[in-house]
Amino acid sequence: TWASVPQAPPDSIFKLTAAYKTDTHPQKVNLGVGAYRDDNGKPWVLPVVQKVNEILLKDTTLDHEYLPITGLPEFTSAAAQVLFSAGSAALKEGRISSVQTISGTGANHLAALFLAKFYQWNGPKQVFISNPTWANHKAILKNVGIEPVDYPYYDPKTIGLDFSGLLNSLSSAPERSVFLLHACAHNPTGVDPTNEQWEKIADVMLQKGHYAFFDCAYQGFASGDLDRDASAVRHFEQRGVPLLVCQSFAKNAGLYGERVGALHVVGATHDAAVRVKSQLSVLQRSEISNPPTYGARIMALILNDSGLFEEWKRDIKTMADRIINMRKELFVLLTDELKTPGKWEHIVNQIGMFSFTGLNTTQSKALLEKAHVYLTENGRISMAGLNSKNIRYFAESMDQAVRG
Ligand code: LMR
Repeated sequence: TWASVPQAPPDSIFKLTAAYKTDTHPQKVNLGVGAYRDDNGKPWVLPVVQKVNEILLKDTTLDHEYLPITGLPEFTSAAAQVLFSAGSAALKEGRISSVQTISGTGANHLAALFLAKFYQWNGPKQVFISNPTWANHKAILKNVGIEPVDYPYYDPKTIGLDFSGLLNSLSSAPERSVFLLHACAHNPTGVDPTNEQWEKIADVMLQKGHYAFFDCAYQGFASGDLDRDASAVRHFEQRGVPLLVCQSFAKNAGLYGERVGALHVVGATHDAAVRVKSQLSVLQRSEISNPPTYGARIMALILNDSGLFEEWKRDIKTMADRIINMRKELFVLLTDELKTPGKWEHIVNQIGMFSFTGLNTTQSKALLEKAHVYLTENGRISMAGLNSKNIRYFAESMDQAVRG
């Protein structure tokens, strides 16, 4: 039995965490997985989450019953509100079907499954994804029989956005194509369209009747401002671009292991939204039956209490600001101090958890092998892994890798 099952390669991101853990080098640095670390390189339980944990611990009314199939209602409705804003027409008109998911990955999966089954495909089942994108997007789409097709996004020459390539592919794709877009803090590049560019993207999407599949894993975490990071999604919703959004609270609430997220599908009418939700519920039942309670309870408390919500916003800003400061410090070290060959402005211009350094595979591998700095082979570093103690070591190691 199973004699013909081939060995699968390890996951390109989580294999780094495993290797880092067993490495005994005193100066090892983990810049692999996108998970926030404080200035001591330690995971950070947000103070607001600590507070809510204590509230939940004392609450004797809580039990361990199943949640409804579509999740904790006070979580899903508040999650929709923080994403789309209370003033959103779609929200007020009851046109959004929101379902609690196993974090962002589960939302992507449920979205892909729903599209595979119900989208009115114009030709083969294919979803356009940015080149590059989060490696898991491809796997998630393929798992449900959807072919991922690359659209140009990143321009290695400018280490920035290939905006004309992106617009060309939007214009030349068949009508009613599905485009997977990163709502903010593009993973892995940290390169986002500007507001004006998002408006142009929305123009073409409307002209061509395309469908926007938003992945929103970093709301608030990118700029420190929940509203600013939701502006692309809100703009598309206001313009009437047909869309869905996959939402995660892993990063912005530091709830990685709780797997708390949601899928929001915007419909044209309330009636359509009710029907969509009924189908999402059927799909969810056969996949996971009922989503997990704990993370949803934490987020429901934070999102529905104005005091806790303000505290959460402060915590988000603490994380975003620390990352922004690390970008500035790294830039100064490379340019002013080490005079590392090349241009490094992109490090401060990029946004969110990651920086696409521009290091090639050889340089990235050299960093790993010689300096014990763990990063993905595409040159992506998790900025959150840098801190006041290791940033100089990292900059010097990077300088050496660049000089070869
Ligand atoms: C990452 O890209 O490192 C994170 O989103 C974690 C993951 O699930 O891959």
